[in-house]
Amino acid sequence: SEMCIRDSIKSDREIELMRRAGALTSQARALAGSMVKPGVSTLEIDHAVRDFIRSHGAEPSFLNYSGYPGSACISINEVVIHGIPDHRKLLEGDIVSVDVGAYLDGFHGDCCGTFACGTISPEARRLIDVTRQSFFEGIKFAKEGYRLFDISAAIQQYVESHGYSIVREYVGHGVGAQMHESPEIPNYGHPGRGPRLLRGMTLAIEPMVNAGSAAIQQMSDGWTVKTLDGKWAAHYENSILITDGEPEILTAPAI
Ligand code: MF3
Ligand code: CO
Repeated sequence: SEMCIRDSIKSDREIELMRRAGALTSQARALAGSMVKPGVSTLEIDHAVRDFIRSHGAEPSFLNYSGYPGSACISINEVVIHGIPDHRKLLEGDIVSVDVGAYLDGFHGDCCGTFACGTISPEARRLIDVTRQSFFEGIKFAKEGYRLFDISAAIQQYVESHGYSIVREYVGHGVGAQMHESPEIPNYGHPGRGPRLLRGMTLAIEPMVNAGSAAIQQMSDGWTVKTLDGKWAAHYENSILITDGEPEILTAPAI
């Protein structure tokens, strides 16, 4: 349906519901992350995420979204995003992005993390750490008074200064009663531009970072997105609330 940027501004009641959806989604990500081990299939992780979300009275946001067949997107190594869970077993050294969403009492949480499967290479570790940190660099500007692309520019600057590339074709987004609300939030852009940030906005900030070039390729399954050069990629996402001070991370890990 038609969304405008004002719809990303939530009432106090809506914010409380977003906190609950966000907490559940964060717990689902933690559960999935704890299962990332050699010999575990991505379908096992997907089913655990689905069962966990349902056992808390919520529904996986991604399941059947535009026909998506899973409850999580599980993206291994050169897969950037939207990896479809299957019987493939994780291998020692893999890096595994798990993106989850939960719809609870009318509101969505959306978050992702990239996890190490056993011992990974130092280069893979650095890719994961830079991607995660780029989110935190971005949200230094996620407060009333800044503009949306201040966040985007900070993410881009941090990632590119570490020699990595930002994926352009996919972006963050407003989040709330719909999983994807206005505004779109690119992970690149010019500081001082874009819409003004206002307290009560709920946003999903999600840098997708390639170790090599920014180019991606879409697989014929209609979902899986890989790097074009076959180098590895990482993804990190939280749903956040804009306030007049520090942003509140709605999908913050419990510990
Ligand atoms: N977190 C992703 C996003 O914001 C996941 C959507 S996957 C889909 O777009 F399967 F639900 F489409
Ligand atoms: Co998202």
